[in-house]
Amino acid sequence: MKKASFNPSRRRLFKTLAALGATSATAGLLSACGRDSGKAQAALSFSEIPHGLDHRHHLPEGYRADILLRWGDPLHPGEGDFDPAGLSAETQAKRFGYNNDFIAFMPLDSAAGPGENARHLASGNSRRGLLCVNHEYTQPHLMFPGYRDEASATRSVSAEHVAIEQAACGHAITEVEKTADGWQPVLQSPYNRRITLATPMLIVGPAAGDQRLRTRDDPTGTRVSGTVGNCAGGKTPWGTVLIAEEGFGGAFQGDPDNIADPVEALNHHHFGISAGNRNWGEHDSRFDIEHEPQEPNRFGWMVELDPYDPASTPRKLTSLGRFQHEGFTLVCKPGQPVVAYGGDDDEHQFVYRFVSRHSYLPGRDQHNRALLLDGTLFAGQFNDDGSGRWLPLAFGHGPLTPENGFRNQADVLIDARRAAALLGATPMDRPEDVETNPVNDCTYVMLTKNKRRTTADAANPRPKNATGHVVEIVPPGAYGRRDHASATFQWNTFLLGGNPNAEDPRLRGAYGQQSPGAISAHGWFANPDNVAFDPRGNMWVATDGCEDFGFHDGLWAMATEGELRAAPRHFFGCPQGAEVCGPEFTPDGSTLFVSVQHPADARHSTFDKPLHRWPDNDTKKAALPPRPSVLAIYRADGKPVGS
Ligand code: FEO
Ligand code: CA
Ligand code: CA
Repeated sequence: MKKASFNPSRRRLFKTLAALGATSATAGLLSACGRDSGKAQAALSFSEIPHGLDHRHHLPEGYRADILLRWGDPLHPGEGDFDPAGLSAETQAKRFGYNNDFIAFMPLDSAAGPGENARHLASGNSRRGLLCVNHEYTQPHLMFPGYRDEASATRSVSAEHVAIEQAACGHAITEVEKTADGWQPVLQSPYNRRITLATPMLIVGPAAGDQRLRTRDDPTGTRVSGTVGNCAGGKTPWGTVLIAEEGFGGAFQGDPDNIADPVEALNHHHFGISAGNRNWGEHDSRFDIEHEPQEPNRFGWMVELDPYDPASTPRKLTSLGRFQHEGFTLVCKPGQPVVAYGGDDDEHQFVYRFVSRHSYLPGRDQHNRALLLDGTLFAGQFNDDGSGRWLPLAFGHGPLTPENGFRNQADVLIDARRAAALLGATPMDRPEDVETNPVNDCTYVMLTKNKRRTTADAANPRPKNATGHVVEIVPPGAYGRRDHASATFQWNTFLLGGNPNAEDPRLRGAYGQQSPGAISAHGWFANPDNVAFDPRGNMWVATDGCEDFGFHDGLWAMATEGELRAAPRHFFGCPQGAEVCGPEFTPDGSTLFVSVQHPADARHSTFDKPLHRWPDNDTKKAALPPRPSVLAIYRADGKPVGS
């Protein structure tokens, strides 16, 4: 494959940023989080794959990918193989759900049982664990026969299909183990569990019980049935998993302007609820806002669940605010408050940070389990000079008063978007994953794109941002002792997505500034979405949108420090129509799990006539449809992925 050395030089980077109106070099690409660390990151040595676009997935030489879990695969013994013609809501609720997204690998200690979270985590077992996987949303035109296209399907789904869709959303917990034949699900496991829109959940934290959370079914405002729009998430050191409710507005139907309360009408408009949305409300009245106008207020939260306790009740954490949560990831240092970072995945929305009131105490699980219930949520302000501030979403602070329609802290959390905007937080280009590199202790914000941006600023330097970028947050303090709870921070542009040779500066990418020429013709990407860090501190970026630029979505890996900082190498490519989500390493870095979401999602592609049938690529008469699936990727020689 021809390799082009088209990495921009430093001078060209300055020119690019100047053309984009970036006002300061400190807000540019030349700073590095770990420049004072003295730690070089080990080089990534896999043989890069090319950009491509076909009906297969692609990996570097020497790697294997086991297709571990597919939509419809049984999670319990005796369920039998997937048969789309035999699917019902009851059977779907016992099988792997649709459109897998976030993945958490939670190790299992063979000698420990349910509820012994600390022992399981301490085992660091990288060959056996619980795979905790989100199921973000459903696509009836690809799941069921008889629908002509996506638009008509979403508005005319039958009652039977709506029930299956609701059982295919949510989350799956599956025990998995690595055998001589590769990774496999353990169907007899007592931990295997589906969480769906029928799973009972608690609403906890400062907004629990507020009158805006009460409905006919739940006059207490503290109990809710299920979760939806589960995008990315996070993990806690007390052995629970956080899952995000992102695009929940699409589940609700009705015209907000027909609701008597103007506060709720505005609130529902903010989340895209409209009469033209999918028709769940016709068959299940709680999704009809004109029947149950406050039900949407019970979605848009982070949900905490305990995979090690199959009898546990998940809980929605109102302390982390209500918006289109991409995810929340934690920084937990002994004796210090827990800090959690998250993004609101929408154009011109904000980056958030939560700081707990009390400190994290390793081993004190009962104490730690309350930490995320009590603390302060902040929204990020990214100044043009490379400095930043965290603005507290606290009732009574600044404009967050009754004069602006906030009665109490519950209102501030339920309407977090409105509160953050009033405080002066910086509208960003669709913040997706926000995660801290455990090796250099800096935090990285994936900004996917924002074609609606008309005015650039230093943190969002491209109008009509079609290719996305990554921002690096550097909390104050020396390397290894950074203060993530500080009111201020510094920030840099880590990279700009896009082709570094693009003529149009709004589409031109910028990478690897410390080592010009370090990336190949396949090293560039667009639309960063999810991110993971391997145990050596290398960043692995998952994309959602590269097909707009002629090649598959996939994974790109890069160092965050040293000469090869921000110089990506292409590791994994999706089948056409899919995005890749949820990259997750085992504790030893020897296996990388990835979600391939919405394969064969393309114009005119339906269940009856799909673009392709990945991963089964089945050509029989009663062929299987394309199926969202989780892959387990590892080296044939067992060494860490990427090394
Ligand atoms: Fe569900 Fe933000 O992607
Ligand atoms: Ca995502
Ligand atoms: Ca996405």
